[in-house]
Amino acid sequence: MRRILVTSALPYANGSIHLGHLLEHIQTDIWVRFQRMRGNQCIYVCADDTHGTATMLLAEQEGVSEEELIERLHADHVTDFGRFGISYDNYYTTHSDENQHFLNLIYTKLRDRGYVYTEDVEQLFDPERKLFLADRNVRGECPRCGAPNQPGDNCDSCGATYDARELKNPVSVISNATPELRTSKHYFVDLPKFADFLREHIHNGSQQPEIANKLTEWIDGGLRGWDISRDAPYFGFAIPDTVDKFFYVWMDAPIGYLASFKNWCTANNEEFDDFWRADSSCEVHHFIGKDIINFHCMFWPAVLAHSDFRTPTKVHVHGMLTMDGEKMSKSRGTFVLAKTYLDHFDPDYLRYYLAARLASNSSDLDFGREDFVARVNSDLVGKLVNIASRSVGFLAKNFDSTLADELADPELWEEFVNAQTDIAAWYEDGDTGRVVRRVMELADKCNQYVAAQAPWQRIKDPDGRDDVQAACSMAINLYRVLIGYLKPIVPALAERSENFLNADALTWDNTTQPLVSHQLNEFGHLLNRIELKTFNAMIEAGADKTPPDPEPEAEQNEYIQIDDFMKVDLRVAQIKHAEIVEGADKLLKLRLNVGDHERTVLSGIRSAYTPDELIGRSTVVVANLAPRKMKFGLSEGMVLAAGPGGSEIFLLAPDDGAQPGMRVT
Ligand code: 2FM
Ligand code: ZN
Repeated sequence: MRRILVTSALPYANGSIHLGHLLEHIQTDIWVRFQRMRGNQCIYVCADDTHGTATMLLAEQEGVSEEELIERLHADHVTDFGRFGISYDNYYTTHSDENQHFLNLIYTKLRDRGYVYTEDVEQLFDPERKLFLADRNVRGECPRCGAPNQPGDNCDSCGATYDARELKNPVSVISNATPELRTSKHYFVDLPKFADFLREHIHNGSQQPEIANKLTEWIDGGLRGWDISRDAPYFGFAIPDTVDKFFYVWMDAPIGYLASFKNWCTANNEEFDDFWRADSSCEVHHFIGKDIINFHCMFWPAVLAHSDFRTPTKVHVHGMLTMDGEKMSKSRGTFVLAKTYLDHFDPDYLRYYLAARLASNSSDLDFGREDFVARVNSDLVGKLVNIASRSVGFLAKNFDSTLADELADPELWEEFVNAQTDIAAWYEDGDTGRVVRRVMELADKCNQYVAAQAPWQRIKDPDGRDDVQAACSMAINLYRVLIGYLKPIVPALAERSENFLNADALTWDNTTQPLVSHQLNEFGHLLNRIELKTFNAMIEAGADKTPPDPEPEAEQNEYIQIDDFMKVDLRVAQIKHAEIVEGADKLLKLRLNVGDHERTVLSGIRSAYTPDELIGRSTVVVANLAPRKMKFGLSEGMVLAAGPGGSEIFLLAPDDGAQPGMRVT
């Protein structure tokens, strides 16, 4: 028996689970279920990736503590993944004692062995929020082409990459303040010292060939020290022996794999060291997307190897998911949340479709809506389930649901059984696309067999009854083999099938043992056909309910449609009262007359206006914005203003004569 530990990348605790996460966690879960079905010990752990500035800012925006936020999202993630049948043994958090323990242990070993150094780093600093700005938190004009509103690392317009300090007229997206340059001491892991180790490591079979090539290119291009520190304020773990330095979230994220496993070991009386000591003979498999190979294939093995842990057996890298040939987009509604999907379709459909698209390489995968509908209807319902549903009725009606006492076509049976070796190898390799293709070829053969036997005709012949029982029993047995082969991919369908087959749960071994002289249970409904219009309704439903985008810059330049714009109710408002909000640097609390009623709006314009300057002025508000609970109270709308920030914020004002409540058109 192999002893295997498996992980999926840890989702950030700053939004809901979406199709991108599901691709990876379903891919991992299929592999895990396959290993368990074969009788291997396979422990699957994951966790939420909780630390970093994004969590800190989101908690602040929601007016809750970071701990409250990550607890809520943890429950949310566990529910969503659970509904897709993802069979973790433990879904933990990086904000845990175990994680801090391993983090400190690894860090101090690296430091004491001379693999950590410090260096001064100059960075953009937000003087209002008093924090250093990550690249995604600053925007400005591209230093190459001058395109406005570009992020801190690369230009969406001309594709240039640059240092955030090169941006022209930079603005903090957190406060709108103009950033300053400040210097602070950072901690680095000395990656160049690991170059020889890495050159060997990447050819030890732990990497897919195309990934090993990419890594070689990076090493040949010269490695640089890896910055593992961030300055306070930062939601994370403090670096030992420092006052205001924290570990960068990417330092403690992969260590979260160790922590989640350790937490599972404690609850299950297993030995952590069996899996993680340097000479362990157990296996460790990570499943990740190709956007994070540098962390998992360079940094992580180097850190493990130099702090007395074993390195991963294999890193399974998948490509990125697109929808209908385009990047998934919030505005088009193709950024589908797990919850939105579940309101429309059965989880097994997604599991099946993604499995059909996945191969053992890191090529990108496209989710085509018409392809999805066609594959579910023609493969799962039309080919596979059809085998059972067309045969079982004859057995129930005429033979007390009892299967014949021998297999009618041993040759066909052998062909199905013999496919198992290849299918196992493809599962092992992650080539589920081939598994699905082979199973569907066999399903075609089975349907041809049933068509040739034509039980619906033979049953009319009084001498044909035995043939009908034989043919239908054969078909049910073949169905059982195919469902056994697909069980890791469609576990809920397999369970419903096991119920009507009335035999032991399918394992890799018993899948190829025939059922003879065996009574079936009543046949319940297995699967429904689906329609394209349901898919379109899902996209429509998702369009307004999108999570915080991890890369908001990618969509800044997209157009909205006139219908979207027409939803915005702009009104003239008169500022009746304005006051400072204690404890909030940027906010003013405004009492607005919007015609037939008054309402309160919190607005981030304090750097440009004193309360007295505002009272009596007219401005424009978004009147139908859903009220938002902020840290400092409820805000019932939004005041419109223009300008780069700081003292240059200009309230939009209507022309003379506009009365409170008038619609702005
Ligand atoms: O890219 C991401 O979504 C990260 N949260 C993945 C972390 S994986 C591991 F290193 F923790
Ligand atoms: Zn540019």
